[in-house]
Amino acid sequence: MAGALCAILTLLALGKAPEQCLTRTAPWFCHDLDCPHYELVTNIEDDVELRAYDAGTWVSTNLTGMDYDEAIRTGFMRLYSYISGANQERRRIEMTAPVRVEMTPGAGPFCEDHFRVSFYVPNALQDDPPLPLSKDVFMDPSPATSYYVISYGGRTNEKEILDKAADLAQLLDDAGLSYDFTSFFHAGYDSPFRLFNRHNEVWIKAL
Ligand SMILES: *[C@@H]1O[C@H](CO)[C@@H](O)[C@H](O)[C@H]1NC(C)=O
Repeated sequence: MAGALCAILTLLALGKAPEQCLTRTAPWFCHDLDCPHYELVTNIEDDVELRAYDAGTWVSTNLTGMDYDEAIRTGFMRLYSYISGANQERRRIEMTAPVRVEMTPGAGPFCEDHFRVSFYVPNALQDDPPLPLSKDVFMDPSPATSYYVISYGGRTNEKEILDKAADLAQLLDDAGLSYDFTSFFHAGYDSPFRLFNRHNEVWIKAL
């Protein structure tokens, strides 16, 4: 909607872009939430692209020795508590998108799967985020990174995420593209309450 309005204003201004057009517009699947900025590098297939993400700060928590559902639930609650005031400034922090989960199969001490659950720090707090009170939650600066991304809709689950990651890896193999598959990421953009237009992604780091 902001995009359409901007386009109309731009037309009215006969090519002179009004100031609000200079702010970057987020993709539709972020809805009204802050989300990390990227440039689309190439469209590989309909639902597969290479993206170059800017460096950005996330807040994360690591979990090992749990199954997927329990890890996500526990990780989400820790981070939700951080944004609800369990931080040194005791402030409420806006929800952002996506909830990102890095999955590293077999990386635990007993070869359990390792999970890193992360929220993106809102744009306004990126430079100076309030520090977490819990020792399980940490600020997690991420360097600029390129990912191969496969997108899909609906409600997802661990099996589908693994299948999508395998599909993506196969597709990259077929295309002769190189990637780092020691871990991969699921990015979920929606609360459980959104019924339609749900959006998921699986990311694999490009080499
Ligand atoms: C959390 O896990 C990631 C891998 O997913 C690892 O790189 C990082 O060092 C871990 N951080 C802490 C504080 O355990």
